[in-house]
Amino acid sequence: MTTPQPNSTAPAPEAPQVSEAPPAPQAPDWWRDAVIYQVYPRSFADGNGDGMGDLPGIRSRLPYLRDLGVDAVWLSPFYASPQADAGYDVADYRAVDPMFGTLADAEGLITEAHRLGLRLIVDLVPNHCSDQHAWFRRALAEGPGSTARDRFHFRKGRGENGEQPPNDWESLFGGPAWTRVPDGEWYLHLFAPEQPDFNWDHPAVHDEFRSILRFWLDRGVDGFRVDVAHGLVKAPGLPDMGHTGEQLKLLGNQSLPFFDQDGVHAIYRTWRTVLDEYSGDRIAVAEAWTPTAERTARYLRPDELHQAFNFHYLGTGWDATALREAIDASLDAMRPVGAPTTWVLSNHDVVRHRTRLGGDLARARAATLLMLALPGSAYLYQGEELGLPEVTDLPDEVRQDPSFFRDTGQDGLRDGCRVPLPWAGEEQPYGFGSGGSWLPQPADWAPLTVQAQTGDPASTLELYRTALHLRRTHPGLGAGDAVEWLDAPDGILSFRRPGGLVCTVNTTDAPVRLPAPGRPLLSSSSQLPVLDGDFILSPDTTIWWEE
Ligand code: NOJ
Repeated sequence: MTTPQPNSTAPAPEAPQVSEAPPAPQAPDWWRDAVIYQVYPRSFADGNGDGMGDLPGIRSRLPYLRDLGVDAVWLSPFYASPQADAGYDVADYRAVDPMFGTLADAEGLITEAHRLGLRLIVDLVPNHCSDQHAWFRRALAEGPGSTARDRFHFRKGRGENGEQPPNDWESLFGGPAWTRVPDGEWYLHLFAPEQPDFNWDHPAVHDEFRSILRFWLDRGVDGFRVDVAHGLVKAPGLPDMGHTGEQLKLLGNQSLPFFDQDGVHAIYRTWRTVLDEYSGDRIAVAEAWTPTAERTARYLRPDELHQAFNFHYLGTGWDATALREAIDASLDAMRPVGAPTTWVLSNHDVVRHRTRLGGDLARARAATLLMLALPGSAYLYQGEELGLPEVTDLPDEVRQDPSFFRDTGQDGLRDGCRVPLPWAGEEQPYGFGSGGSWLPQPADWAPLTVQAQTGDPASTLELYRTALHLRRTHPGLGAGDAVEWLDAPDGILSFRRPGGLVCTVNTTDAPVRLPAPGRPLLSSSSQLPVLDGDFILSPDTTIWWEE
């Protein structure tokens, strides 16, 4: 591959002004190309100065999200919870934990989001609850044989005195998936012992969750992110998984007797009828880790859920061939069920994509522009728009992720992507709140604050703002299911979208000279050298072109 010297250097394409973002899409099917921004409530903004993010803090920053240009916000759990797993252990699905605010705060947040043209999706945790949930407390109190125990998976143990767990299932957080209670029975928890699994063979569990859906739909939420959507139904008889010696991965795709069982789909059909009873398109997005994209598509048949996170894409490295295969496989899998493909690079369970892809900001920016050029819907995780890296040097004593304490060998401990956002100023907590932050922020984050990046055309924040604005206005971006691959050298991705958009990506560490496919719209790097109708695609760079 030759690398000629450019005979001119054009400035990067100009950023459109985005002071007045167009309104959020009002049409039905808004979710088919929505950009949905994940807010992790503990770490977004602290309204009361206790060092912990909360709902009033989030509300105060909604204008920032509107101006960023996202369509919807997904809130990780803010329900009453002892916080054994940062709120994914719910004690009361209809109450707000006091550390996050009140039910009135949640209602106010929904109303204010709508006033600003944003939609709001809440997390639903149906696989398990907290060991402090009233049903589980009753199950413990009423003892073996009680009907209260039937709502969970209680079993006698194996061994002469029942001293062995009932089967060989492992917790995703490490150790056995069973805990023994003082009366001798064991209960199942695929996650922490404080998170007992519901028994979805019990009709009361079905009724309760339909009621919880209605509780939040009545308050105006636009949908639900369904936690562990692939885990609710267990294989009949709870057969051994058979030890492979392989560590279970929280975000893995192994085939297991407690994941992706065919029985889950009947549940989602009943949920879809509830969602469809409400006006507007209320949606559900599945967190479903399955072995293949085709298995994921089964959750998205027309009478089931609307979207699923594309973890196959998230797990793909910065490699042109692998990316192209993952993109094609995702689009091919969704086409038969008519669901939009989604794309995601970061969330609260994985190493931030800047760090995961090698640590280089240029590469992270290129990965983002590639993702946002693909047809369908995209999920952003708070802070990626600031180019935040994973915080890898948190001291053990501040860590809170339960998988850390259970020594699971998980690939990435999850506190490092959950460090509170830097908003402004030179010192910690960088405007997160007035009273510190529950996880310490790095001392060198001042240049990464929202304040420092706003108005700087070279900043990652302005790149996201410009890209999201273009997604709303350009006919070649957003919904659809088609990409046309164009010839490109090794390590380069080049594709055309109907609507006159071409996206070129250089995943290599060498610049490449290519014919310019049109007028440059946006580049992830600051310079765009041009040369007699050709252009130089810098390493780790994505460029959007208008044909
Ligand atoms: C997936 C969530 O994203 C993760 O944070 C949580 O620990 C598990 N589900 C258990 O609820």
